[in-house]
Order: sequence, then structure tokens, then C-alpha cells
Amino acid sequence: GDLRDLYQEVILDHGRKPRNFRRLDDATLTARGDNPMCGDRMELFLKTAPDGHIEDAAFQGRGCAISMASASLMTETVKGKTPAQAKQMGEAFRELAMTGTCPHCGGDIADDMERLTPLSGVHEFPSRVKCATLAWHTLNAALDGAKEASSE
Ligand code: FES
Ligand code: FES
Repeated sequence: GDLRDLYQEVILDHGRKPRNFRRLDDATLTARGDNPMCGDRMELFLKTAPDGHIEDAAFQGRGCAISMASASLMTETVKGKTPAQAKQMGEAFRELAMTGTCPHCGGDIADDMERLTPLSGVHEFPSRVKCATLAWHTLNAALDGAKEASSE
């Protein structure tokens, strides 16, 4: 439907021009995420306020367009949230993605991948779900004080 097309445009836009793609030199929490299926890696930076809420979020790394779009949307989404709220969103996202359902529009994740493939350069897609959830796994690790995450 129209709403789904709109969301897919949003995903494409974030895949092409990821938001918050930078280092945060004053990050209070960081973690590295690794997608073992393709070897792509990202580093996440969170800056938390004294009351614990997430003031800023940024990431750097290498990955296919879906992982970039997902990290871009994740960093935008968690700003201003408490760690508990952010973890709850991550949980919901991962649960939905595991079913192959797009957490953004309820469509099939495979549809996104088809649209994003031309943007993704040399990457093959060993597992789409792992690409979509890498950023959220990394977020969880950072919030738990762990340094490494895997989208396993
Ligand atoms: Fe990608 Fe829904 S926004 S299939
Ligand atoms: Fe490596 Fe998607 S994150 S192919």
C-alpha cells in the first residue's frame, strides 16, 4: 500500500545517506557489532546524560545498505530515550525481524533487500535478518556495558 511505499522510501533514503554516521568523542558507552555471516562490523557510540537517558547516538562501520539504514534509524530513534525504553524497542524490533517481517511497515524484509541491493555494492546477502538486527544487537551490548555484540 501507499504507507508501505512511503516507509520503503524512508529506508532507501537512510541506506543512501545514513544519519549519525560519525564518531562521538565524548561517548559514555560504546560497543562493536559484528555480523558473522558477512564479516561486516559497526561501532556504536552513545552519550548518556547524568540521569541515564540517551542524549546522542552515532555509529561508524561498514555494511550493506539495509544494515546502514537500520543503524541510521536506530540511532535516530533512541535519542531522548531511557536505556529501558531503548532496550524494549530493540526487543520488539528483533522479535519482529526474526519472523522475516519488516518492523517498519509489516512487509516482507526480502522486498527491502531487493530494492536496496543495487545500492549495496559488492555485498551478497547471507542473512537479511542479521543485517537488519545488527545495530539493535550492538545497542543492547552497549547498554549492558558489553564491548562486543554479534548478530548471531
Ligand atoms: Fe521495508 Fe517495510 S519498510 S519492507
Ligand atoms: Fe553485511 Fe548486510 S551487514 S551483508
